[in-house]
Amino acid sequence: MSGDVPKSMRALRLHGAGMEGLRLDEVRVPRPGPRQLLGRVDAATACASDNKIIDQGSEHTLMYGWDLAAHPVPIGHEGCITVAEVGEELEDTYRVGSRYAVQPAVPSGPRRHRERYRNGAVGVEKIAVGYTLDGLFAEYVLIGEEVIETGCLLPLPDAEMPRFAAALAEPLSCVVSAQQHSIHILKDSPAEPRRAHLGMKPRGVVVIIGGGPMGRMHVEVALSCGPRKIIVSEPLASRREKLVAMIEDKARRQGVALVCTDPDHLAEVVVAESDGRGADDVIVALGIRAVQEQAVSLLARYGVANFFGGLKKGDHMISLDARRIHYDSVTVVGSSGGDPSDVAQALSLLADGTIEAGNYIAAVGGLDAARDLVAAVREQRLDGKGVIYPELRSPLEEVDGWDAQREAAFLQQKARR
Ligand SMILES: NC(=O)c1ccc[n+]([C@@H]2O[C@H](COP(=O)([O-])OP(=O)(O)OC[C@H]3O[C@@H](n4cnc5c(N)ncnc54)[C@H](O)[C@@H]3O)[C@@H](O)[C@H]2O)c1
Repeated sequence: MSGDVPKSMRALRLHGAGMEGLRLDEVRVPRPGPRQLLGRVDAATACASDNKIIDQGSEHTLMYGWDLAAHPVPIGHEGCITVAEVGEELEDTYRVGSRYAVQPAVPSGPRRHRERYRNGAVGVEKIAVGYTLDGLFAEYVLIGEEVIETGCLLPLPDAEMPRFAAALAEPLSCVVSAQQHSIHILKDSPAEPRRAHLGMKPRGVVVIIGGGPMGRMHVEVALSCGPRKIIVSEPLASRREKLVAMIEDKARRQGVALVCTDPDHLAEVVVAESDGRGADDVIVALGIRAVQEQAVSLLARYGVANFFGGLKKGDHMISLDARRIHYDSVTVVGSSGGDPSDVAQALSLLADGTIEAGNYIAAVGGLDAARDLVAAVREQRLDGKGVIYPELRSPLEEVDGWDAQREAAFLQQKARR
């Protein structure tokens, strides 16, 4: 592929806070240094958190004061690449044509452009693709030493994996990571010692609040932990119906009862479905303060509440019933993003069909549709993920599910234009 790499490309870059700072630019294709790679971006999906960097610009925590007006960056942190060029010192390890998923949160300080970070990047230990490292809403992306040396480039488990499925590994990895942050302290009998269990309580009652795409992924990942019952709270009837159509049969086959309700009835449904005990696990798959507060009240003794959605700065202080923590030993946990082991696990869940990636796809388009996709996610117009194929030029098309054949046909048909 290296011979085919053009000199310039298009990239969706952020020049400053606000949607008006987000532009599709013609830029130079970067050239990899000796220990770097150039990736062709095969697919990139948009995430609700892209809006946080759009809203906050240089003030975003992961930008460390980087001046976006002087140094605009391509955004996009969910996606997969094919290696297009290999730096000379990596020729024994990487080859042109290999495919990888990208883990965007990189546990490292920056090697390049340290002068652009506040205090010359002193104390910076975590950087991210789509923030100060070039993002994936672009035709090509430079994969720097930080990404490579921290294991944040993950080989696909199956060379035939469709692009949209590989791109979905990142959001799914956040769900995998989050559920492993729910720690239960279990005892087989009063005389036995305690042990820690990572994940949803086996044979427990799980409540998932929010039936958007991330809530639905939580339901599917929770199913693999073998709970007794999963209760989902979602105000929109269309989303509840989608969840039932997508997951109810699968849950039944695994011996798990799936119960859908709306926020007004959640508390009474939890009482009824748990014989008055409360939920062993509650996952809050949205970022609303009052809902986080309610989550703790839904817990059984020794239950764990997991705050998956973050709260806006300035609206992030909540009230907690400290007596529940003391007398009922309830726990509150949270996490943001995942790490390479979570992406690896997500890739295997997608490759073995435990998670049907196509069920999550709600729109597709070329790179010229990336800005529209970000706007659609911002305005909550899509119930699912939108996939951008950066090599194509094509408007955003809403779809109800996606698969390998449709992806191949779409790529072929649009490339001919
Ligand atoms: N922790 C992480 O690593 C991580 C990663 C990705 C996304 N997230 C967060 O996950 C959250 C969910 O993402 P999404 O893409 O599914 O968002 P979404 O907005 O599509 O889904 C949220 C859902 O919650 C529903 N809802 C609103 N109020 C409710 C209430 N009171 N009770 C129950 N449901 C209610 C909405 O109707 C919607 O369907 C977001 O806050 C996102 O930022 C976290």
